[in-house]
Amino acid sequence: MGNPIDFIAERLPLDDVMDALKHKQVPVHKRTIFYYLGGICLYLLIVQVITGILLLFYYQPTEALAYESVKFIMTKVNFGWLVRSIHAWSANLLIFSLFIHLFSTFLLKAYRPPRELTWMTGMALFGICLGLGFTGYLLPWNELAYFATKIGTEMPASIPVVGDLIKEFLRGGPSVTGVTLTRFFAFHIWILPLALAGVVGIHLLLVQKLGMSRPLSQESKNNRSMPFLPHFALRDLNVWLVVLAVLLGLSYYFPAHLGNPADPLSPTPIGILPEWYFLFMFQSLKLLPAHILGIEGELVGMMFFGLAALFVLLVPFIDKKSANGLKSPLFTAIGWVMIAFVIGMTIWGRLG
Ligand code: HEM
Repeated sequence: MGNPIDFIAERLPLDDVMDALKHKQVPVHKRTIFYYLGGICLYLLIVQVITGILLLFYYQPTEALAYESVKFIMTKVNFGWLVRSIHAWSANLLIFSLFIHLFSTFLLKAYRPPRELTWMTGMALFGICLGLGFTGYLLPWNELAYFATKIGTEMPASIPVVGDLIKEFLRGGPSVTGVTLTRFFAFHIWILPLALAGVVGIHLLLVQKLGMSRPLSQESKNNRSMPFLPHFALRDLNVWLVVLAVLLGLSYYFPAHLGNPADPLSPTPIGILPEWYFLFMFQSLKLLPAHILGIEGELVGMMFFGLAALFVLLVPFIDKKSANGLKSPLFTAIGWVMIAFVIGMTIWGRLG
């Protein structure tokens, strides 16, 4: 057979991939630091897959055994507590990095043509990752997760006509039970990861094909760049090592808690909060009056968030100025208002 590497290279288009990577250039300017964010998301995603598979060796997705199996992982399995903590911390860091990746590409107007699809696949990835966070939270079947899921799955019920249908689809019945757990498990380990793998593939293919954008402010006056291989790739690796150190530090010093097992018959404890990345929506909905112009307040809030998400998804087609290579201060201002809103409401939700 000869050299196995040659054997594989002759049969797969590896040369084409290497060729493309060798020609890839990364623009150099004062915002180059933001180009590390996508790589950080990718790295944390890989950590999630590996630690998730390790947890699957022991986790049991049934109402009777879920909590006990997580307890077993934490107390009996070698390094089980660490693997679970890394999975939980890495999920949080991934969503945090996604927020920064999303807002930085928004402010840099990296969504402008020809990167509309890179942006839209990115938005899909953001939604899928939020779904993974929501479904994963229930899996330990502890008190906090149970009631947070009960509140979270109640929210769609205020949507007219289809609201109850969505709620029952998510729960697998009128209330949160073992059926919900089975359903969330299917979403968490099959449906959402498969969708994620496909969309990440397209996102990265587009990034590779279109190259990195240069901010509008730099476009005419600066065309400095550095080769991706090896210069930027080595820097990426350094950043990944720092992220690994942060991840291990957090997981070791602040390991994930388990708390008490879920008890569906007990009343909802006071002050139950969703994961931090849903807090800004939760807090906003909480602040709304019961009725606004005769419409249920919660419904108005959800319509607002739905429209805001649609606006962000379609921003490459709405921001005509940056599409034509002009500065668009209005969209920069919108970006900063969104950032201030998300941070402000999250802090308020945590303190209030
Ligand atoms: C798991 C999720 C994601 C992964 C693994 C990922 C990965 C990447 C990577 C590796 C890059 C190239 C380096 C960089 O610019 O940072 C990139 C670029 C990009 N990403 Fe993402 N991304 C994800 C989610 C998102 C989200 C949520 C958005 C926004 C809605 C987004 C929008 C973009 C855009 C517009 C670019 C092009 C940047 C430019 O050309 O300047 N991505 N992504």
